[in-house]
Amino acid sequence: MGVEVVVEGLTKSFGRQVVWEDVTLTLPAGHICVLLGPSGTGKSVFLKTLVGLLRPDRGHIWINGHDLAGCREKRLYELRRLFGVLFQDGALFGSLNLYDNVAFPLREHTRRSESQIRRIVMEKMELVGLVGAEGKFPGEVSGGMRKRAGLARALVLDPEIILFDEPDSGLDPVRTAYLNQLIVDLNAETDATFLIVTHDITTARTVPDDIGLLFRRELVMFGPREMLLSSEEPVVRQFLNARRHGPIGMSEEKDVAELEAEARLGREPGRLPPIPPQLMPSGTAVRRAQRPPGVWLAENGVTAPPGSFVDEQGRDWREEYPRLLAADAEAGR
Ligand SMILES: Nc1ncnc2c1ncn2[C@@H]1O[C@H](COP(=O)(O)OP(=O)(O)O)[C@@H](O)[C@H]1O
Ligand SMILES: [Mg+2]
Repeated sequence: MGVEVVVEGLTKSFGRQVVWEDVTLTLPAGHICVLLGPSGTGKSVFLKTLVGLLRPDRGHIWINGHDLAGCREKRLYELRRLFGVLFQDGALFGSLNLYDNVAFPLREHTRRSESQIRRIVMEKMELVGLVGAEGKFPGEVSGGMRKRAGLARALVLDPEIILFDEPDSGLDPVRTAYLNQLIVDLNAETDATFLIVTHDITTARTVPDDIGLLFRRELVMFGPREMLLSSEEPVVRQFLNARRHGPIGMSEEKDVAELEAEARLGREPGRLPPIPPQLMPSGTAVRRAQRPPGVWLAENGVTAPPGSFVDEQGRDWREEYPRLLAADAEAGR
């Protein structure tokens, strides 16, 4: 099931500009992780460093016992094949139709016959709901379809680790909801390890098992969703609740005077909003990496904000979840 990625003391700079320093985190095998952070904090640079497109200044990236940050080209090439990457806007070749775009990695990296390629491409096209659009060119389809084609392409080599760079940017809320469901279903089906960079707070609050936050050249926090959604740490709560109150300002960090003014005005952060239930796969099956709602809170003696884990139909997922598990077990899944 999936592959664990252990990042240790990772530092990256361009010339004299340090992008982030001493980043340490573990992407647990099969988990869905989200990475948040204001624009320009180096989220895309982090993804590119993970796949070995950029070399870090210091630190390690351990995968299957190999250090991707310090290995030779040949090993790097092998390790890269474990990854599928969905770049922003799909990064498709404009001169190829969707079919040939999706087939590209298979033609480049494998010796499969065209009939085998056809089977795999059509399977992935179906998975992302693009059957019938194979002959279209990237310029002729919507942004949402380009992203889904990019996703199909990221999947053709059956990656163990899938990185998504702002899969929801430029999508309307309905398309974002569909895409999030697709991501969760995909994880349930493949058990691959996912890392999603996003700006969408709803996505960050409902999709992942773990959340990380980059701010001021460091990883402020990384851990289970329930840990960050119940955190009182000012940057974390400001970001995850999309508030103006807190250390993050409009352009750069707020200066001391602004923060003091906020404190004088008594604009204290309010109560934490409820932790929403986690998005479930569309079948009844739960994802293998998923943990029951409330477990992290209970283990750590943290009280959930009132109304947590209750969905729009009023169901409390702390009760609903064990029922689903039991039904699954009975169905022999
Ligand atoms: N290849 C590069 N060379 C020099 N600077 C870069 C390069 N790629 C990114 N940067 C810089 O690194 C910082 C982080 O960029 P990026 O990872 O794109 O931020 P984010 O994805 O969080 O918005 C930015 O200041 C950007 O200008
Ligand atoms: Mg980016």
